[in-house]
Amino acid sequence: MGQHDLHEIAEALVAEGKGILAADESGGTIKKRFDTIGIESTEENRRAYRDMLFTTPGVEEYISGVILFDETIRQSSADGTPFPKLLASKGVIPGIKVDKGAKPLAHAEGETVTEGLDGLRERLAEYHGLGARFAKWRATYSITDALPSDYCIWTNAHALARYAALCQEAGIVPIVEPEVLMDGTHTIERAYHVTCRVLDALYTELFDQRVDIFGTLLKPNMVLSGYDGSNRAGADEVADWTLKCFYKHVPAAVPGIVFLSGGQSDEDATAHLNAMSAKGPHPWALSFSYGRALQAPAIKAWAGKPENVEAGQRAYYHRAKMNSAARSGLYAPEMESEAIAV
Ligand code: 13P
Repeated sequence: MGQHDLHEIAEALVAEGKGILAADESGGTIKKRFDTIGIESTEENRRAYRDMLFTTPGVEEYISGVILFDETIRQSSADGTPFPKLLASKGVIPGIKVDKGAKPLAHAEGETVTEGLDGLRERLAEYHGLGARFAKWRATYSITDALPSDYCIWTNAHALARYAALCQEAGIVPIVEPEVLMDGTHTIERAYHVTCRVLDALYTELFDQRVDIFGTLLKPNMVLSGYDGSNRAGADEVADWTLKCFYKHVPAAVPGIVFLSGGQSDEDATAHLNAMSAKGPHPWALSFSYGRALQAPAIKAWAGKPENVEAGQRAYYHRAKMNSAARSGLYAPEMESEAIAV
């Protein structure tokens, strides 16, 4: 696979009106989600839940790709079709989470480094064989008065770039995900400065490690006030601070910025994306790669019951449609009450 194919995959993932579903919750995270609806996290329940999402009729109009977890990429739909094959048959590109999680960073109290580089070349070859054409690696950074440290920022940037280079070698588009966490009472200005430092280090490492920026996507946090802060910034301010940061630190060669939702409410995540799109055009496509903000109403409507599959699909379809509208700045809160036909 040449550079050209990587560019095409990256462009297809941010095709007009479409975004990515992050359905790559690890064993621990999906258990937490299932706990909220009181169902057990068995392999069959996890399969049935993902099957409901992936077989939602018509959602491919709004969804370009799905990020899978190691277990999920090996599972099949109820009729026996492997998930990657099912997605590809609808024109949805299968992706895979390849990091092994954020682990405590040595000599850095309260900070993490994302692990998973050992054996990554071999794992990527296997995932490519299973149908994955893009991947995700997430690093996390906490904000306090003293954190994040430069040590944490540069160690994670180095690992993100090593991962990205290995992906491209394997014919897989790397999504680089440096997530500055919004827990805490910090101001939006502080979140802006931290996000700027993180992106500056990330692009320095990506260039140094010869990564072809046209064949990557960035999955960042939005720049928000701390979730426990007072006088939290509204959508317009969020859009201004986030765009200011990206204009300074994200090269125009990046084909698309696909935001994570990071614990925002579903409707906030949509409204924030909409506010940024409305201020366009921008050098990069602005899109979504949401986990919680696409799935929260769906998992609640499903509640683990086969008779609720259609209700779960309607809820997921609706959020995908709202976020698609937000990509062109055409979302309005009134659209939330629209009747939805699946
Ligand atoms: P959230 O949208 O729930 O933050 O999840 C996106 C994701 O893939 C985190 O790695």
